Amino acid sequence: MTSFDIKQLQTELQQKNPRRIIKTALEHFDNIAISFSGAEDVVLIDMAVQIDKDIQVFCLDTGRLHPETYRFIEKVRQHYNIEIELLTPDRERLDVFVKEKGLFSFYQDGHQQCCGIRKVEPLQRHLAHLDAWITGQRKDQSLDTRQDLPEVQIDSAFSIPEHPLVKFNPLSHWNSAQVWDYIEAYQVPYNELHERGFISIGCEPCTRPVRPNEHERAGRWWWESSNKKECGLHAGNLTK
Ligand code: ADX
Ligand code: SF4
Repeated sequence: MTSFDIKQLQTELQQKNPRRIIKTALEHFDNIAISFSGAEDVVLIDMAVQIDKDIQVFCLDTGRLHPETYRFIEKVRQHYNIEIELLTPDRERLDVFVKEKGLFSFYQDGHQQCCGIRKVEPLQRHLAHLDAWITGQRKDQSLDTRQDLPEVQIDSAFSIPEHPLVKFNPLSHWNSAQVWDYIEAYQVPYNELHERGFISIGCEPCTRPVRPNEHERAGRWWWESSNKKECGLHAGNLTK
Protein backbone atom coordinates (compact mmCIF):
# COMPACT_ATOMS: atom_id res chain seq x y z
CA MET A 1 0.00 0.00 0.00
CA THR A 2 1.37 3.43 -0.89
CA SER A 3 0.44 6.37 1.32
CA PHE A 4 -2.67 8.23 0.25
CA ASP A 5 -4.98 11.02 1.25
CA ILE A 6 -8.58 9.96 0.69
CA LYS A 7 -9.85 13.48 -0.04
CA GLN A 8 -7.09 14.03 -2.59
CA LEU A 9 -7.79 10.65 -4.17
CA GLN A 10 -11.51 11.50 -4.38
CA THR A 11 -10.76 14.75 -6.14
CA GLU A 12 -8.28 13.08 -8.47
CA LEU A 13 -10.70 10.32 -9.49
CA GLN A 14 -13.94 12.28 -9.72
CA GLN A 15 -15.76 11.49 -12.99
CA LYS A 16 -12.69 9.72 -14.34
CA ASN A 17 -12.93 6.79 -16.72
CA PRO A 18 -13.44 3.50 -14.82
CA ARG A 19 -10.25 2.06 -16.33
CA ARG A 20 -8.23 4.99 -14.96
CA ILE A 21 -9.85 4.52 -11.52
CA ILE A 22 -8.97 0.82 -11.49
CA LYS A 23 -5.41 1.59 -12.57
CA THR A 24 -4.99 4.12 -9.77
CA ALA A 25 -6.51 1.66 -7.29
CA LEU A 26 -4.05 -1.05 -8.31
CA GLU A 27 -1.13 1.36 -8.17
CA HIS A 28 -1.96 2.34 -4.61
CA PHE A 29 -2.85 -1.09 -3.24
CA ASP A 30 -1.31 -4.53 -3.72
CA ASN A 31 -3.72 -6.17 -1.35
CA ILE A 32 -6.90 -5.32 -3.22
CA ALA A 33 -9.68 -7.44 -4.76
CA ILE A 34 -12.67 -7.13 -7.04
CA SER A 35 -16.01 -8.15 -5.57
CA PHE A 36 -17.77 -9.80 -8.50
CA SER A 37 -21.50 -10.52 -8.33
CA GLY A 38 -21.79 -12.60 -11.49
CA ALA A 39 -23.64 -9.87 -13.39
CA GLU A 40 -22.66 -6.89 -15.56
CA ASP A 41 -19.92 -5.93 -13.10
CA VAL A 42 -17.80 -8.33 -15.21
CA VAL A 43 -16.60 -5.15 -16.94
CA LEU A 44 -14.43 -4.49 -13.86
CA ILE A 45 -12.65 -7.78 -14.45
CA ASP A 46 -12.30 -7.08 -18.16
CA MET A 47 -10.60 -3.76 -17.42
CA ALA A 48 -8.51 -4.98 -14.48
CA VAL A 49 -6.94 -8.05 -16.14
CA GLN A 50 -5.45 -5.78 -18.78
CA ILE A 51 -3.64 -3.91 -16.02
CA ASP A 52 -2.81 -6.86 -13.74
CA LYS A 53 -3.57 -10.37 -14.94
CA ASP A 54 -3.21 -11.65 -11.35
CA ILE A 55 -5.95 -9.42 -9.96
CA GLN A 56 -7.72 -10.99 -6.96
CA VAL A 57 -11.42 -11.63 -7.55
CA PHE A 58 -13.95 -13.01 -5.12
CA CYS A 59 -17.61 -13.85 -5.28
CA LEU A 60 -20.05 -14.37 -2.41
CA ASP A 61 -21.51 -17.78 -3.02
CA THR A 62 -24.69 -17.55 -0.98
CA GLY A 63 -25.78 -21.04 -2.04
CA ARG A 64 -28.88 -19.38 -3.55
CA LEU A 65 -27.55 -17.96 -6.83
CA HIS A 66 -29.20 -18.90 -10.13
CA PRO A 67 -27.70 -21.89 -11.97
CA GLU A 68 -27.06 -19.45 -14.82
CA THR A 69 -24.98 -17.28 -12.49
CA TYR A 70 -22.86 -20.22 -11.36
CA ARG A 71 -22.31 -21.12 -15.02
CA PHE A 72 -21.40 -17.53 -15.78
CA ILE A 73 -18.88 -17.34 -12.94
CA GLU A 74 -17.20 -20.44 -14.35
CA LYS A 75 -17.26 -18.96 -17.85
CA VAL A 76 -15.55 -15.79 -16.59
CA ARG A 77 -12.95 -17.85 -14.73
CA GLN A 78 -12.04 -19.71 -17.91
CA HIS A 79 -12.36 -16.77 -20.30
CA TYR A 80 -9.90 -14.59 -18.39
CA ASN A 81 -7.87 -17.46 -16.97
CA ILE A 82 -8.19 -16.03 -13.46
CA GLU A 83 -8.87 -17.47 -10.03
CA ILE A 84 -12.23 -16.55 -8.57
CA GLU A 85 -12.45 -17.16 -4.86
CA LEU A 86 -15.91 -18.31 -3.78
CA LEU A 87 -16.77 -17.21 -0.26
CA THR A 88 -19.25 -19.41 1.56
CA PRO A 89 -21.35 -18.78 4.68
CA ASP A 90 -20.33 -20.07 8.08
CA ARG A 91 -21.72 -23.64 8.16
CA GLU A 92 -22.82 -23.58 11.80
CA ARG A 93 -24.63 -20.24 11.65
CA LEU A 94 -26.33 -21.26 8.44
CA ASP A 95 -27.45 -24.63 9.86
CA VAL A 96 -28.98 -23.01 12.93
CA PHE A 97 -30.74 -20.39 10.82
CA VAL A 98 -32.18 -22.82 8.27
CA LYS A 99 -33.27 -25.26 10.99
CA GLU A 100 -35.10 -22.52 12.82
CA LYS A 101 -36.55 -20.53 9.93
CA GLY A 102 -36.39 -22.65 6.81
CA LEU A 103 -35.32 -21.53 3.36
CA PHE A 104 -37.67 -18.64 2.59
CA SER A 105 -38.10 -16.67 5.83
CA PHE A 106 -37.08 -13.45 4.06
CA TYR A 107 -40.51 -13.21 2.41
CA GLN A 108 -42.02 -12.93 5.90
CA ASP A 109 -39.55 -10.98 7.98
CA GLY A 110 -37.20 -9.28 5.51
CA HIS A 111 -33.92 -10.15 3.87
CA GLN A 112 -31.52 -8.77 6.47
CA GLN A 113 -31.00 -11.93 8.52
CA CYS A 114 -30.45 -14.25 5.58
CA CYS A 115 -28.21 -11.72 3.79
CA GLY A 116 -26.37 -11.23 7.07
CA ILE A 117 -25.45 -14.91 7.23
CA ARG A 118 -25.04 -15.70 3.54
CA LYS A 119 -23.35 -12.49 2.38
CA VAL A 120 -22.31 -9.99 4.99
CA GLU A 121 -20.48 -12.24 7.47
CA PRO A 122 -18.42 -14.04 4.79
CA LEU A 123 -17.63 -10.65 3.22
CA GLN A 124 -16.55 -9.22 6.56
CA ARG A 125 -14.27 -12.21 7.16
CA HIS A 126 -12.68 -11.74 3.75
CA LEU A 127 -12.31 -7.96 3.89
CA ALA A 128 -10.43 -8.26 7.18
CA HIS A 129 -7.47 -9.52 5.10
CA LEU A 130 -7.63 -6.79 2.44
CA ASP A 131 -6.58 -3.13 2.36
CA ALA A 132 -9.03 -2.17 -0.38
CA TRP A 133 -11.82 -3.60 -2.51
CA ILE A 134 -13.45 -2.74 -5.82
CA THR A 135 -17.18 -2.92 -6.41
CA GLY A 136 -19.46 -2.50 -9.41
CA GLN A 137 -21.92 -0.19 -7.68
CA ARG A 138 -23.33 2.69 -9.72
CA LYS A 139 -25.27 5.80 -8.78
CA ASP A 140 -27.97 5.04 -11.32
CA GLN A 141 -28.74 1.70 -9.63
CA SER A 142 -30.66 3.41 -6.84
CA LEU A 143 -31.92 6.93 -6.39
CA ASP A 144 -32.74 6.01 -2.81
CA THR A 145 -29.42 4.64 -1.65
CA ARG A 146 -26.66 5.16 -4.22
CA GLN A 147 -27.02 8.66 -5.62
CA ASP A 148 -24.13 10.05 -3.52
CA LEU A 149 -21.79 7.18 -4.31
CA PRO A 150 -18.21 8.44 -4.77
CA GLU A 151 -15.53 6.83 -6.97
CA VAL A 152 -13.52 6.06 -3.84
CA GLN A 153 -14.36 6.15 -0.15
CA ILE A 154 -13.31 4.84 3.23
CA ASP A 155 -15.62 1.90 3.79
CA SER A 156 -17.66 3.03 6.77
CA ALA A 157 -19.26 -0.40 7.22
CA PHE A 158 -16.19 -2.65 7.25
CA SER A 159 -13.29 -0.49 8.41
CA ILE A 160 -12.05 -0.90 11.94
CA PRO A 161 -10.05 1.85 13.70
CA GLU A 162 -6.77 -0.06 13.38
CA HIS A 163 -7.50 -1.09 9.77
CA PRO A 164 -9.18 1.45 7.52
CA LEU A 165 -10.53 -0.21 4.39
CA VAL A 166 -10.73 1.65 1.11
CA LYS A 167 -13.56 0.99 -1.32
CA PHE A 168 -13.37 1.86 -5.00
CA ASN A 169 -16.52 2.18 -7.10
CA PRO A 170 -15.07 2.73 -10.59
CA LEU A 171 -18.45 2.53 -12.35
CA SER A 172 -20.12 4.97 -9.95
CA HIS A 173 -20.88 7.63 -12.56
CA TRP A 174 -21.47 5.29 -15.49
CA ASN A 175 -25.04 4.45 -16.38
CA SER A 176 -26.38 1.11 -17.43
CA ALA A 177 -26.19 2.01 -21.15
CA GLN A 178 -22.47 2.78 -20.86
CA VAL A 179 -21.83 -0.58 -19.20
CA TRP A 180 -23.74 -2.39 -21.94
CA ASP A 181 -21.99 -0.40 -24.69
CA TYR A 182 -18.69 -1.57 -23.22
CA ILE A 183 -19.87 -5.21 -23.04
CA GLU A 184 -20.97 -5.05 -26.65
CA ALA A 185 -17.94 -3.15 -27.97
CA TYR A 186 -15.37 -5.41 -26.32
CA GLN A 187 -17.37 -8.64 -26.61
CA VAL A 188 -17.32 -9.21 -22.87
CA PRO A 189 -19.08 -12.41 -21.73
CA TYR A 190 -22.32 -11.78 -19.81
CA ASN A 191 -24.82 -13.64 -17.66
CA GLU A 192 -27.48 -15.24 -19.88
CA LEU A 193 -30.19 -14.06 -17.44
CA HIS A 194 -29.73 -10.57 -18.90
CA GLU A 195 -31.33 -11.89 -22.09
CA ARG A 196 -34.45 -12.85 -20.14
CA GLY A 197 -35.44 -9.52 -18.64
CA PHE A 198 -33.17 -9.65 -15.60
CA ILE A 199 -31.22 -6.45 -15.09
CA SER A 200 -29.94 -6.37 -11.52
CA ILE A 201 -29.10 -9.93 -10.50
CA GLY A 202 -28.75 -11.27 -6.96
CA CYS A 203 -29.93 -14.52 -5.36
CA GLU A 204 -32.55 -16.56 -7.21
CA PRO A 205 -35.41 -16.31 -4.66
CA CYS A 206 -34.89 -12.56 -4.29
CA THR A 207 -34.51 -11.50 -7.93
CA ARG A 208 -37.06 -11.33 -10.71
CA PRO A 209 -37.09 -9.82 -14.19
CA VAL A 210 -38.32 -6.25 -14.39
CA ARG A 211 -41.29 -5.09 -16.42
CA PRO A 212 -40.98 -2.37 -19.10
CA ASN A 213 -40.31 1.01 -17.50
CA GLU A 214 -39.67 -0.46 -14.07
CA HIS A 215 -36.42 0.56 -12.39
CA GLU A 216 -33.73 -2.13 -12.46
CA ARG A 217 -33.78 -2.70 -8.71
CA ALA A 218 -37.56 -3.20 -8.76
CA GLY A 219 -36.71 -6.84 -9.42
CA ARG A 220 -34.67 -7.17 -6.21
CA TRP A 221 -36.44 -7.92 -2.88
CA TRP A 222 -39.60 -6.64 -4.60
CA TRP A 223 -41.74 -7.22 -1.51
CA GLU A 224 -39.76 -4.57 0.42
CA SER A 225 -39.66 -0.77 0.05
CA SER A 226 -36.95 0.68 -2.18
CA ASN A 227 -35.05 2.46 0.60
CA LYS A 228 -34.35 -0.93 2.23
CA LYS A 229 -32.79 -2.49 -0.85
CA GLU A 230 -29.27 -2.72 0.48
CA CYS A 231 -28.30 -6.09 1.84
CA GLY A 232 -25.46 -5.03 4.09
CA LEU A 233 -22.62 -5.33 1.56
CA HIS A 234 -22.95 -1.62 1.03
CA ALA A 235 -24.53 -0.68 4.35
CA GLY A 236 -22.60 2.59 4.32
CA ASN A 237 -25.02 3.76 1.61
CA LEU A 238 -27.83 3.75 4.18
CA THR A 239 -26.13 5.88 6.77
CA LYS A 240 -25.36 8.89 4.62
S1 ADX B 1 -26.48 -5.82 -3.60
O1 ADX B 1 -25.90 -5.31 -2.38
O2 ADX B 1 -27.75 -5.19 -3.96
O3 ADX B 1 -26.56 -7.29 -3.66
P1 ADX B 1 -25.65 -5.25 -6.27
O4 ADX B 1 -26.26 -6.48 -6.83
O5 ADX B 1 -26.30 -3.95 -6.57
O6 ADX B 1 -25.43 -5.37 -4.68
O7 ADX B 1 -24.15 -5.21 -6.74
C1 ADX B 1 -23.31 -4.09 -6.46
C2 ADX B 1 -21.91 -4.61 -6.25
O8 ADX B 1 -21.84 -5.34 -5.03
C3 ADX B 1 -21.44 -5.60 -7.31
O9 ADX B 1 -20.96 -4.97 -8.48
C4 ADX B 1 -20.35 -6.32 -6.56
O10 ADX B 1 -19.18 -5.56 -6.52
C5 ADX B 1 -20.95 -6.42 -5.15
N1 ADX B 1 -21.70 -7.69 -5.03
C6 ADX B 1 -23.04 -7.89 -5.04
N2 ADX B 1 -23.35 -9.19 -4.91
C7 ADX B 1 -22.17 -9.85 -4.82
C8 ADX B 1 -21.79 -11.21 -4.69
N3 ADX B 1 -22.68 -12.19 -4.61
N4 ADX B 1 -20.47 -11.51 -4.64
C9 ADX B 1 -19.54 -10.54 -4.70
N5 ADX B 1 -19.83 -9.24 -4.83
C10 ADX B 1 -21.11 -8.89 -4.89
FE1 SF4 C 1 -30.83 -14.69 1.38
FE2 SF4 C 1 -32.20 -13.42 -0.55
FE3 SF4 C 1 -30.19 -12.21 0.79
FE4 SF4 C 1 -29.69 -14.16 -0.97
S1 SF4 C 1 -30.57 -12.11 -1.40
S2 SF4 C 1 -28.75 -13.92 1.00
S3 SF4 C 1 -31.43 -15.56 -0.57
S4 SF4 C 1 -32.20 -12.89 1.61
